[in-house]
Amino acid sequence: MSRKYAVMSPEEAASHINNDDNIGFSGFTAAGCPKAVPAALAKRAEAEHAAGNPFKVGMFTGASTGDSIDGNLARAKAIKFRTPYQSSKDLREAINSTEAPYFDLHLSHLAQMLRYGFLGKVNCAIIEASDLTDEGEIIPTSGVGISPTICSLADKIIVELNAKHPKEIRGMHDIYTPLDPPERREIPVYKPDDRPGRPYIKVDPSKILCVVHTDLPNEGGSFTPVDEVTAQIGDNVASFLVSEMKAGRIPQSFLPVQSGVGNIANAVLGAMGDNAVIPQFNIYTEVIQDAVIDLMKKDRVKFASGCSLTVSNPVMEEIYGNLNFFKDKLLLRPQEISNNPEVIRRLGLITINTALEADIFGNINSTHVTGTKMMNGIGGSGDFTRNGYLSIFVTPSVAKGDKISAIVPMVAHADHSEHSVSILITEYGVADLRGKSPIQRAKIIIDKCVHPSYKALLTDYLKIGKGHTPQNLKSCFAFHNALNDTGDMHNAKF
Ligand code: COA
Repeated sequence: MSRKYAVMSPEEAASHINNDDNIGFSGFTAAGCPKAVPAALAKRAEAEHAAGNPFKVGMFTGASTGDSIDGNLARAKAIKFRTPYQSSKDLREAINSTEAPYFDLHLSHLAQMLRYGFLGKVNCAIIEASDLTDEGEIIPTSGVGISPTICSLADKIIVELNAKHPKEIRGMHDIYTPLDPPERREIPVYKPDDRPGRPYIKVDPSKILCVVHTDLPNEGGSFTPVDEVTAQIGDNVASFLVSEMKAGRIPQSFLPVQSGVGNIANAVLGAMGDNAVIPQFNIYTEVIQDAVIDLMKKDRVKFASGCSLTVSNPVMEEIYGNLNFFKDKLLLRPQEISNNPEVIRRLGLITINTALEADIFGNINSTHVTGTKMMNGIGGSGDFTRNGYLSIFVTPSVAKGDKISAIVPMVAHADHSEHSVSILITEYGVADLRGKSPIQRAKIIIDKCVHPSYKALLTDYLKIGKGHTPQNLKSCFAFHNALNDTGDMHNAKF
């Protein structure tokens, strides 16, 4: 970095943010998020509150963040508004107590919604960077998210220059922003490794308020080891994909894969890599998790395009320690490109996302526990599911021991409708829902996916409804009511 920009402490930088401002943060998941300035901002909010002054900010980020942003600002009660996704325990509590208003949004939509002006002004962008030039070229770190858009919209930009991320990662990002309607053209991504953009975010240098130097690691956690259930789900996904290859519905060269967030998605990718019939494949996804890096080392994944490197810190160090090997195999894009419906449809993605619950007719709840409590958010699951070539949902058949059946008569909140979901997979088997009527779907889901202890209940439920989709509106939430009343869905009564 040159000496052109003012250098400030995190506290000094945070002092330039005002009550009621809207702030855009870089990053996507904990990857690429600023840490020092948000932590200082939360302290400032606490001090203002202690002095009897109001202090809350609106927060736009790529997706979830690290604890420095969502955790600190939720604990400081400093959130006026938050979008589009989160996975923080403290923020989840603030959302569910209605302390923090939350707009749960398809991730591909956020950047354009900001540009259209639907969500208000961006007063300040706080961007983590691995490098910054005199000309205003910002090289992101391990997550891109909405950074290009918030940099162009914000009145001022604070750059957290983080020495943990080497300058040599320049070239690992492709920054492309589509024009807005009516000038929008096709997005020229025809293969996962196409690069229509530039390797940096270009900003007007005069908008850069200051640089804050840091050396802080990403705040991502680690993945839980694969267990019997997740391993079986992974094997079921891999076997299903092999059968689709044999049927000629997936080409022998395979199709690019998107895989969702969390432990189950990580396990599924591992199982696909272990299946000898599945050829080497490419990834076109939003979060690149640990399993992808492992498969690259084994030569099972050739290339991965995503929006963030959401890897554990040891894996991050491994990538940076071996950039010669990884740099031309990894590409990070803004989320409006990584999750873009046009590109997803064109590339013919196999999309694999995790459901919180599914119903016997194929609708999916990804977000709301018992229909009311926000877990994380829809994230990119809608972007990918609605537009994928094969839209797969995976879930363990039960949760919390077996007190909760992941498959219920009617989902208590619908994120993905029966019209978008092709395949449902649990540790028990695979329900192929393509081309089937609601009753046919219900029968195959009960037969192949439901936990044995819930099969009789769901079979009985199917008998009491009438019509094309035989929901019984008096009883469709009997499973949820039994959970709320007795702590166990097995006590459902129709
Ligand atoms: N009711 C209540 N709780 C449930 C549940 C249900 N039907 N199903 C799962 N859970 C709980 C689990 O018990 C677990 O709780 P714990 O953290 O207290 O142990 C928690 O939900 C997470 O479940 P887990 O089985 O570990 O799965 P995961 O880490 O893969 O997360 C989702 C699953 C659905 C929460 C997560 O994938 C998500 O937020 N998805 C929405 C966004 C998305 O799909 N993004 C990807 C797009 S690229």
